[in-house]
Amino acid sequence: MLVAPSILSADFGRLNEEIDELNKTDCDYIHIDVMDGHFVPNLTFGKCVIEAVAKRAKKPLDIHLMVQNIDFFVKMMIDLKPFSLSFHVEEEKHINRILHLIKDNCIKAGIALNPHTSQDSLEYILRYIDFVLLMSVNPGFGGQNFISSTLEKAIRLKEIIKDGNFDCKISMDGGINSQNINMLKESGVDIAIAGNYIFKSQNYQEAINSLR
Ligand code: DX5
Ligand code: ZN
Repeated sequence: MLVAPSILSADFGRLNEEIDELNKTDCDYIHIDVMDGHFVPNLTFGKCVIEAVAKRAKKPLDIHLMVQNIDFFVKMMIDLKPFSLSFHVEEEKHINRILHLIKDNCIKAGIALNPHTSQDSLEYILRYIDFVLLMSVNPGFGGQNFISSTLEKAIRLKEIIKDGNFDCKISMDGGINSQNINMLKESGVDIAIAGNYIFKSQNYQEAINSLR
């Protein structure tokens, strides 16, 4: 299982130290939630803060856009050269155009689905994307309870990916901990994104080990 700590649950007053702590672990990515106060009822980081994180981080950055006006935010984030960038299918009418924008800049492109959105909405775009981010909570906040119907969705999605022979990973985001991680693995999830579980633990590496 690949593990991506979500810094939404980090101590923002000590963000540099928190990034240093993650650098010391063997986590695979650092997950950064960009929220605009419109697509979700919360606001988080803009370009300046992510730039500071990018300077300090020795891990690849995975930026998750929970925003309206996706084109504007994608162009802003492309400058930061993250490893991967995802946006929500619920909010975009011209998905192929946005995917090109991301991939032409050598950034891995992902599509995020809210808990109620079906995997079938991806039928004609799965072949173009590098990963699907399945939200296992309603996006906007850390520390919420895991929505278990997302596991069923992961199983169906994995079957479609296998049948189509697509090169597409599945990540899951929200409410993930050592109690439910085995079910994620059994459902075909490749990347676990965890905020509260890692940042509220005493030892980040041990928390990551328990997810692996
Ligand atoms: C929620 C975010 C998640 C969040 C996960 O909208 O997309 O990345 O940080 O946090 P936990 O693991 O605390 O649910
Ligand atoms: Zn996220």
